[in-house]
Amino acid sequence: MVALPVLQSRPSPATPPRSVRLSLTDRCDLACVYCRPDRRDGYLEDRLEIDAWKTMASGLVRAGVRRVRLTGGEPLLHPAVVEVVGFLGTLGLDDLALTTNATRLERHARALREAGLRRVNVSLDTLDPARFRRMTRGGKLDVVLSGVDAALAAGFDEIKLNAVVLRGENDAELEDIVRWSWERGIVPRFLEVMHIGEGAKLKDRVVRASEMRARLAHLLANGDAVAEADRGPAKYLFARHEADGPGRRKVGFITGTSDTYCKGCDRLRVAADGTLRPCLATNDGLSAGQIARGGDASAIAAAVDDAWRNKPDGDVWKGCTEPDAASVSMRGIGG
Ligand code: 5AD
Repeated sequence: MVALPVLQSRPSPATPPRSVRLSLTDRCDLACVYCRPDRRDGYLEDRLEIDAWKTMASGLVRAGVRRVRLTGGEPLLHPAVVEVVGFLGTLGLDDLALTTNATRLERHARALREAGLRRVNVSLDTLDPARFRRMTRGGKLDVVLSGVDAALAAGFDEIKLNAVVLRGENDAELEDIVRWSWERGIVPRFLEVMHIGEGAKLKDRVVRASEMRARLAHLLANGDAVAEADRGPAKYLFARHEADGPGRRKVGFITGTSDTYCKGCDRLRVAADGTLRPCLATNDGLSAGQIARGGDASAIAAAVDDAWRNKPDGDVWKGCTEPDAASVSMRGIGG
């Protein structure tokens, strides 16, 4: 086992990691301007095989993980993604979700649903084809929209749309995105550009959630946006004109820049090569790929405990706004 340089060791946070994001592959078929510099920025050569992912997942559950999200890169580029979902579905998790750019969702939505995937987040910043091409450096919007349709037809428990808001690009489109999502039963969420990797070069393009909210004020209820238990850092506001009850329309805001949310973070990340990463905003990590290939889930659980000791202290750590964050590859860590 090779430990990468880590922050100064300290006792494990009181709670173990409950939530994990597995970056199945760091490959992606898009190159969003806030994520990576171009399409040829280099990929990890060392990627876990399916059996190693199974050991990894079993070890994570042993270490206390209850919620799993598959990410990338783009997770649907991994040839065994459906098999991984099927295996995860046997582990008795509280939640099993996936974040995708939807370029391959039309092909995979039904199989993923049948394999046990419950929820899908689609990363989609604009409904305008030319803007989509610009923001993703060449992506085709119609392919993504077909993917969303397939996900709707597959009947997932929940579909969310994640839109990163970039001043001077898609910031006048928020209302259109909300209405489009609500018409389809999708939950729209808007993200501030985080100062991670390429995002660190776009500090002058950040639209704060307070401004996004003001632009949508006529659609949204007054009051404080509220987080949902065990559902990550997004805070939601409900539609202004609607009765109470399940299925109420809402909009989420993810304030990685104006208001970091490290306190109480229970999230661990696993890179495509098996590196255990306790925080999105640093490159610190513990290499567990060889352990996973050895097939010993309890050794993975022990490695998770070790990695978790290096989780930054959420009381003082300011997440994606820390200077270190600029050196993190968002594509490699999967958000
Ligand atoms: N700031 C905010 N969000 C980002 N994402 C990727 N890079 C950034 C960034 N710099 C988003 C993607 C995807 C999610 C995994 O993270 O759009 O929705």
